[in-house]
Amino acid sequence: MMEETNSKTEVVDGVDFDCLSVKDLKKAMEMISRTQRPARTPEEALQKSYQFWNTQPVPKMDESINANGPIEPDKPIESIRQEPYSLPEGFNWDTIDINDSSILKELYTLLNENYVEDEDSMFRFDYPPDFLKWALQPPGWSGDWHVGVRISKSGRLVGFISAIPATLMIYNVKQKVVEINFLCVHKKLRSKRVAPVLIREITRRVHKKGIYQAVYTAGVILPKPVGTSRYWHRSLNPKKLIEVKFSHLSRNMTMQRTLRLFKLPDMPDISGFRKLVIDDVPNAHKLLHEYLKKFDLVPIFTEEEFRHWFVPQTGIVDTYVVENNNKEITDMVSFYTLPSTVMHHPVHRSIKAAYSYYNVANKIKLVDLMKNALIAARNDGFDVFNALDLMENKTFLEELKFGIGDGNLQYYLYNWKCPPIPPEKIGLVLQ
Ligand SMILES: CC(C)(COP(=O)(O)OP(=O)(O)OC[C@H]1O[C@@H](n2cnc3c(N)ncnc32)[C@H](O)[C@@H]1OP(=O)(O)O)[C@@H](O)C(=O)NCCC(=O)NCCS
Repeated sequence: MMEETNSKTEVVDGVDFDCLSVKDLKKAMEMISRTQRPARTPEEALQKSYQFWNTQPVPKMDESINANGPIEPDKPIESIRQEPYSLPEGFNWDTIDINDSSILKELYTLLNENYVEDEDSMFRFDYPPDFLKWALQPPGWSGDWHVGVRISKSGRLVGFISAIPATLMIYNVKQKVVEINFLCVHKKLRSKRVAPVLIREITRRVHKKGIYQAVYTAGVILPKPVGTSRYWHRSLNPKKLIEVKFSHLSRNMTMQRTLRLFKLPDMPDISGFRKLVIDDVPNAHKLLHEYLKKFDLVPIFTEEEFRHWFVPQTGIVDTYVVENNNKEITDMVSFYTLPSTVMHHPVHRSIKAAYSYYNVANKIKLVDLMKNALIAARNDGFDVFNALDLMENKTFLEELKFGIGDGNLQYYLYNWKCPPIPPEKIGLVLQ
């Protein structure tokens, strides 16, 4: 591995740095960037040293695991560090009050300009302010867990991380955790080890409330994924997606044939398919709770949490149910709305994407239920419908003409060891 060194002559992995040919130089450059940038493949991950993550209670990259339980025991609350971790000179912590609309706007702007992009920097997530409120203020949320970093002089918000409370079933163990999300460091402040300080600080604040486990997802490989899943994309507005280069015309395909390929019926066709309303909550909640028992990593929602996450809110979350002739709710399908900014296009500024959330196929086949969800989303002006290949999603992806995406989404547990969970057994979707 490349380590920092003052010595002039180094032979590392077969590269003599004193007499480099162009080929050697390329190899050396490749090696340096491979070890410094975040790992995206298991091979790259095995080569990395993980200076920060190796200090944390997470499994090692090459560890094989049979147990299912915490890595380190809960700490007595009195032993938790009282003072915040130190930030580099010139920066300070600020708890971000998203009930204040101007502060919410600051968070929106930080994420809108600096949050997750695709590999080619063409699209960036554009979480709207109201979506952020939905994602960050579920029942039991804590203001203290919306952690910002500001530049002391200007007050500018340049870093953020959040936690929300949740309960998981991990195999057969019910565990109180937090979900960590929206880790973001301003582009100008990257690679300065601010992310580890944010992670340490949110961990401290979560420990202070007596929670010692967390779940999070990322595109990069860190020690050590509990599971891996892949995004698939279903074009609803193929012409626009091709124009912005989200997708491309396949070989031997004209635009006309592509439009025909992705055409959907005008209206949902399952009888009794309608939007979920508040009165459906108790029954739909039970339906989902029972259904999720078939997976090995799932959330346990209280009825109140279910109401928060599933009652439709325009531009945030949509849930449809199927009601039979006896007025019973038999099936449900849901998706959340997350636009992405199109970074360099003269006409199109944004893609409106639906993300498959939790679906329960009971009386109706999952593929038919999802087809109805696609039709509803198309009728609401979505350009694309995205789904991970987890839960039972693999049973409909190809038939409904989803195309495979180019990145993986890794699932992680903090301070927890358990055997790896294949995507078909993951029943958890984070925003
Ligand atoms: C993710 C992000 C905050 C990391 O900050 P950075 O300035 O690139 O990296 P830093 O120098 O501060 O810290 C590097 C450490 O963070 C770790 N890290 C990088 N991305 C991470 C992630 N998504 N989750 C957890 N840790 C991460 C690195 O592995 C490294 O730790 P290591 O030494 O153990 O390998 C920053 O790149 C960013 O804001 N990216 C865009 C938004 C994003 O991708 N957020 C994460 C969504 S999951």
